[in-house]
Amino acid sequence: MSLSTPLKGRWKLLNKIGQGGFGEIFCVYDLETQHKAAVKMERIDRNKRALRLEIDVLRKIQESRFSATFISCGRNQVYNYLIMELLGPNLSSLRKKQPQKIFSLSTTLKLGVQMISAIEDVHEVGYLHRDIKASNFALRMSRKMRSENGYSPGYCCIIDFGLARKYITSEGEHRPPREEVGFRGTARYASINSHDGKELSRRDDLWSLFYLFIEFLKGSLPWESLKEKEAIAKMKKQYTNIGMCKDLPKEFVTFYQHIESLEYEDRPNYKYLRKLLTDMYHRYSFDENTKYDWEIMKENSSSEKSNIKNQKILDSAPALTGTTNDLSRSKKRSLIGGFPKEFQKNEIEKMNGMVFPKNTIERSQNNQTKNSNQKNNIIEEINQNGIVDPQDLLDPESEINEFEKMMKMINGEEKSDTSSSVDIDDNRHCCIIL
Ligand SMILES: Nc1ncnc2c1ncn2[C@@H]1O[C@H](COP(=O)(O)OP(=O)(O)O)[C@@H](O)[C@H]1O
Ligand SMILES: [Mg+2]
Repeated sequence: MSLSTPLKGRWKLLNKIGQGGFGEIFCVYDLETQHKAAVKMERIDRNKRALRLEIDVLRKIQESRFSATFISCGRNQVYNYLIMELLGPNLSSLRKKQPQKIFSLSTTLKLGVQMISAIEDVHEVGYLHRDIKASNFALRMSRKMRSENGYSPGYCCIIDFGLARKYITSEGEHRPPREEVGFRGTARYASINSHDGKELSRRDDLWSLFYLFIEFLKGSLPWESLKEKEAIAKMKKQYTNIGMCKDLPKEFVTFYQHIESLEYEDRPNYKYLRKLLTDMYHRYSFDENTKYDWEIMKENSSSEKSNIKNQKILDSAPALTGTTNDLSRSKKRSLIGGFPKEFQKNEIEKMNGMVFPKNTIERSQNNQTKNSNQKNNIIEEINQNGIVDPQDLLDPESEINEFEKMMKMINGEEKSDTSSSVDIDDNRHCCIIL
């Protein structure tokens, strides 16, 4: 069985786009529809099988707008495989491509609202995810797959259900906790319950999300450099407290307090948590025009490119597009990375004695005084690495599809007609649409 043989005679393997703990992800070309898709493959000689579970969960959450579309699954002599919608870059790679490896407050909040909904949707079909982390969320680039539902590109989808577990019995009751449970998940984001060998429940996925928010905003977690999970657990117990929210808007304390108040079987109040984030979003005057960090970065890159082209590099001008004086308040915030005032005060943030890298506002301040050499380095980096993962540029020539358009859009080359609007739709998804 060669990898050049199309799967089911239909999906031709193009290139590898991801490698995780148990699966390999490839981009495939659908010879029938002439669109690209993604395939997750698991060797059948592997001791541990996780793909079956992954397929089950993915199929169950198809109603969710925060899931990749299931396309097909199958098995050949070597692999079990799952074919699904091709998504864009994951949130971990997007964050790492930011100059200071952090997301602005506005981007964190926009993503956060969707991530809460995505986690809720998994919980609502009876599963815990148990491995919430940035690389397990990827942006939807294509409207094609969900066009009938009118879903927008730019949604962040939850992926990777290899560690999921059913927490509801067939009678619809919450499963009782087991006495002792082996560690599951990723040590950096695992809840303290997970380190303590306790049975996980819905609250633990939200603990991981909380750690993720801190990492988005601060660029790292206090236990970032530790490898041993015992050492991580020790440090986590020491630092997981309200102090973690120091220098963050007060709503993060409320978020923390809510998840801390949850008992094993409790249903988190997802709606309340989303509202905390949306209220914060509006309190800081972010609006539907507030852009994602990667969109801003692309704009910078484009405007810088044209500056270079015209040989009009203005060292004294702000690093971002033009002067900020004639822009609205929210627009300014978005341009400077979307951080509120209280983020501006420290050169280096200290949280419970832990030193964090400079935060986003410092990045924006730095940006404003950066000389053109530094700017050019950043542009060079963007040009080299791109927001778009290289595999996404490997379209067969005939494939002029929505996906490609969306990729261009996210890179600022095309405008999206649905890109920005505030959508207060139903109770569950009272959220900011991108
Ligand atoms: N449908 C998809 N479209 C695009 N990229 C994907 C898709 N699924 C996974 N990936 C990429 O592959 C990486 C690994 O996939 P994941 O499902 O998380 O596997 P693992 O269980 O091995 O961690 C993800 O972080 C993401 O970047
Ligand atoms: Mg993964």
